[in-house]
Amino acid sequence: MKVNGTHYRSLWWDDDKKALQIIDQRWLPHEFRIQQVDTLQDFADAIVEMRVRGAPLIGATAAYGMALAAKIDPSDQHLDETWEFLDKTRPTAINLRWALTRCRTRLKSLPEAERAKAALKLAHEMSDEDVEICRNIGLNGLEIIRKIAATKKPGEPVRILTHCNAGWIATVDWGTATSPMYHAHDAGIPIHVWVDETRPRNQGALTSWELGSHGIPHTYITDNAGGHLMQHGQVDLVIVGTDRTTRRGDVCNKIGTYLKALAAQANNVPFYVALPSPTIDWAVDDGVAEIPIEERDGREVTHIQGRNEDGKIVQVQVTPDGTPGGNMAFDVTPNHLVTGLITERGVCEASREGLAGLFPDLAEVA
Ligand code: MRU
Repeated sequence: MKVNGTHYRSLWWDDDKKALQIIDQRWLPHEFRIQQVDTLQDFADAIVEMRVRGAPLIGATAAYGMALAAKIDPSDQHLDETWEFLDKTRPTAINLRWALTRCRTRLKSLPEAERAKAALKLAHEMSDEDVEICRNIGLNGLEIIRKIAATKKPGEPVRILTHCNAGWIATVDWGTATSPMYHAHDAGIPIHVWVDETRPRNQGALTSWELGSHGIPHTYITDNAGGHLMQHGQVDLVIVGTDRTTRRGDVCNKIGTYLKALAAQANNVPFYVALPSPTIDWAVDDGVAEIPIEERDGREVTHIQGRNEDGKIVQVQVTPDGTPGGNMAFDVTPNHLVTGLITERGVCEASREGLAGLFPDLAEVA
């Protein structure tokens, strides 16, 4: 997507510098800073500190981490150590483990002398694949938006609510939840997006930055406003992303997603999840019982970051001194609250049959 007229992916390989470049998302939406990732520790820090974030982007980053590992020392032992080292950076998004495992398995099948070159090629391929997956999610989601648009008066927008940032900067390009929005806007279908702020880290501000850069009308709302808007008939559909979806279609996503799904069901608002296939955890059935939920530093809740009047990015404390902050980063929406899963192969029911029907090849291997 474009930033100030230049097309960017959220990470890219610089051939001259022979290094990975990322957008350091800690400073968005206020500052657009690019960072080079040079060491394995840099890779781990980038994921833990959420310089890169969003399930697909974490996976793509990890693939380049494995490429660096293979360059430093292509032995099985070093690949295993790097797998362990990067796997523990964030526990919930399954794309991380998926990418690490895919790279390790492929590299171990090759002679050591060939591994470094093959690892970098694989990381490039996985990035390109992610772009294609997200583009296709957009095309499939576009049809849902198009059908709703057909029920509206000319010029009346389809009103979509989204939570967190499942946008192009959370993937390599396009985004998952935002891809149908970009495609609809580009197809001339009027849309308006209600953007949940998504405390504590306010990923909604990143979504607003993305949508604004693309000229898509949107409004930034408090996390608690969604139920009210749905009750008053102001939301036509919800589209969110996911960090891990179980084989029966339970959806783990940013904290607060579950409450939106409950409100959507109570108000007959369709609740869709944009799901790239690497985000399916075929080994897990019951999302509530089995998915590890990341708990982050309570300071992210007791403090808030923003830009002050002098243009400086600052953090301010919002609670009394010493108040403990509870920071569960994700929650699970059970499959019965999900209207449909928008994947790169089409839209399916959030059920074992639905997912296995679209992905028989993946369901069988797992
Ligand atoms: O903690 P984050 O910002 O990495 O969480 C991101 C989300 O929850 C996204 O909705 C999800 O990863 C899907 S991104 C296409």
